[in-house]
Amino acid sequence: MSCARPTAPGAQLPPRAMAALLALLVLLGWPAATSAVTGDSLLNVCMDAKHHKTEPGPEGQLYGQCVLWKDNACCTANTSLEAHQDQSYLYNFNWDHCGAMPEKCKRHFIQDTCLYECSPNLGPWIDQADSSWRKERIRDVPLCQEDCEQWWEDCQDAVTCKVNWHKGWNWTTGTNQCPKGAMCQRFKFVFPTAAALCEQIWSGSYRYTSHHRGSGRCIQMWFDPAQGNPNVAVAQYYARGSAPPNSFFSILLFLLPLTLLALL
Ligand SMILES: *[C@@H]1O[C@H](CO)[C@@H](O)[C@H](O)[C@H]1NC(C)=O
Ligand SMILES: *[C@@H]1O[C@H](CO)[C@@H](O)[C@H](O)[C@H]1NC(C)=O
Repeated sequence: MSCARPTAPGAQLPPRAMAALLALLVLLGWPAATSAVTGDSLLNVCMDAKHHKTEPGPEGQLYGQCVLWKDNACCTANTSLEAHQDQSYLYNFNWDHCGAMPEKCKRHFIQDTCLYECSPNLGPWIDQADSSWRKERIRDVPLCQEDCEQWWEDCQDAVTCKVNWHKGWNWTTGTNQCPKGAMCQRFKFVFPTAAALCEQIWSGSYRYTSHHRGSGRCIQMWFDPAQGNPNVAVAQYYARGSAPPNSFFSILLFLLPLTLLALL
């Protein structure tokens, strides 16, 4: 005796055909879905700012401290050279606005410029900029503790009149001058902690972290290019993290077609 299933009245797509169709759709949508989940669009990209290339790529002629990025860079050779000049054509920015900045301090600002202009690994932190001279900026880039601390240590003898170097200068002469009433003071009074320096000087471009160099959890301003660029893995880590709980969605996407196929 067979328990014949009653057929539902009305002309509907048979469940098997429906399942097969869904399975097919999910499988076809797989690459787009996984790339959205893993945040691939945040990897190996250049921001839309003033001097960045549209796509990263090799740059054999990168200059000085920017040479770390020669295998894959968002900056041109010209930009890398200009990054080392005082009041370069890049931003007409004068590091020496309260007297000459000591060299040991300046090298950190050069490195900061190299990272900003050359790194293709800042995708997870690219944000819209509310300024006329660039469409995009970086925000909350998790800087390795050592890179921030060393920057602050080496700049203890430097002098400045402002906390936020992005805004509030007097630009009437074409370069930045201290606004009226802003007093020139040693960095240690302007930025009482390393975190204050790294987070406030470029209005939140960097975030101070307690992660260490080599941890894969923080961006290094300095690295040994012979060991490869450590920031590639850091961007991968945060690109995945910035999507909704990665494993849950991946497993769901993986199981859905299997489940549907099993119904056939
Ligand atoms: C870089 O390019 C700019 C704009 O074309 C130019 O004004 C500047 O002189 C160049 N700098 C170097 C070092 O070649
Ligand atoms: C800006 O700098 C110019 C030239 O040094 C000066 O004449 C002017 O008073 C300054 N303006 C302000 C608001 O500081």
